[in-house]
Amino acid sequence: MEDSASIERAARILKAGGLVAFPTETVYGLGADARNAQAVRRIFRAKNRPADHPVIVHLESGDDVKQWAREIPAVAQRLIEHFWPGPLTLILQRAPGVIDEVTGGQDTVGVRVPSHPIARQLLQKFGGAIAAPSANRFGRISATTAAHVCEELGGAVDLVLDGGACDVGIESTIVDLSTGTPRLLRPGGIAVDALEGVMRVPVARADAGSPRASGTLAAHYAPRVRMLLIESGGLEQSVREHAQNAAVAVLARRPPPPGITGVLWHVAGERARDYAHELYATLHQLDRSGCELLVVEAPPAGTDWDAVRDRLQRAATGSGQTDPDDLP
Ligand code: TXA
Ligand code: MG
Repeated sequence: MEDSASIERAARILKAGGLVAFPTETVYGLGADARNAQAVRRIFRAKNRPADHPVIVHLESGDDVKQWAREIPAVAQRLIEHFWPGPLTLILQRAPGVIDEVTGGQDTVGVRVPSHPIARQLLQKFGGAIAAPSANRFGRISATTAAHVCEELGGAVDLVLDGGACDVGIESTIVDLSTGTPRLLRPGGIAVDALEGVMRVPVARADAGSPRASGTLAAHYAPRVRMLLIESGGLEQSVREHAQNAAVAVLARRPPPPGITGVLWHVAGERARDYAHELYATLHQLDRSGCELLVVEAPPAGTDWDAVRDRLQRAATGSGQTDPDDLP
């Protein structure tokens, strides 16, 4: 955990236009002053991320939204009161003066108030808003520990604040409230039915006309090793077949059946919350295990599992590419 001296140092770096990686309750963010175009451009270079992908603006409090959004619909206000600070990002129409580097040139802006104590202290000391995508290279597995950030981004960051392992472990839920129809852009830390309960209106699922979000590309969150997502019923047979000619690692919600040997078998959490908490750390670990193929048991049905299922599908689609520029 960090002391107040390192938080102060981080705030000074942000004021000077530098980059600070910091923990949030979801994943680590790679932060810059959200009003400083040059600083935000540095984020894109560090991540190797295309410039037209917008970044989320992290705020100290819900009261700050009015500086970033032209209007706050009643339904947004209800979500803010109920879920902030917490793993929810709202897409709203941007206020005048919000820079294109943050919005990716769109007329909307993504905002959220994180709950992690270090993120909150940093926002408070800095006294402004922090633009921050997840602290990983574009298309790669997100970072849920300070060590992941250093491995991925190392020298490109001026300071990494260490807050231990992130609690939620998976990114925030993103809801687009910039049009008359609330729309889910990315499942995440809060299940969509919990949002609907508070909003008292249905939330549409993303479609092709939705604004572009890198976390919604078919290939994302990808390990370097090739990854297959297999339905529960076919898992054992698939592992047996592949293990005959490749070094196989398995990520499943149950222990290996008797007779399966020579396979690195990782048992993940049975509940969606526990699974999500350790998902990226497990993918990082299995990716570095020296295996040639990663076989993952598909998660069960149910909205609780939406975010995990979404990340696993995108990870499988993008897997097996050693160069992020080759991602489909
Ligand atoms: O939990 C999180 O949301 C983490 C932590 C660090 O806050 N951040 C995160 O950022 O996941 P990033 O950049 O990896 O993913 C944010 C997603 C991107 O897919 C981006 O395109 C989308 O949010 N986004 C941001 N602003 C948007 C906007 N105005 N319209 C549509 N999508 C937007
Ligand atoms: Mg990301």
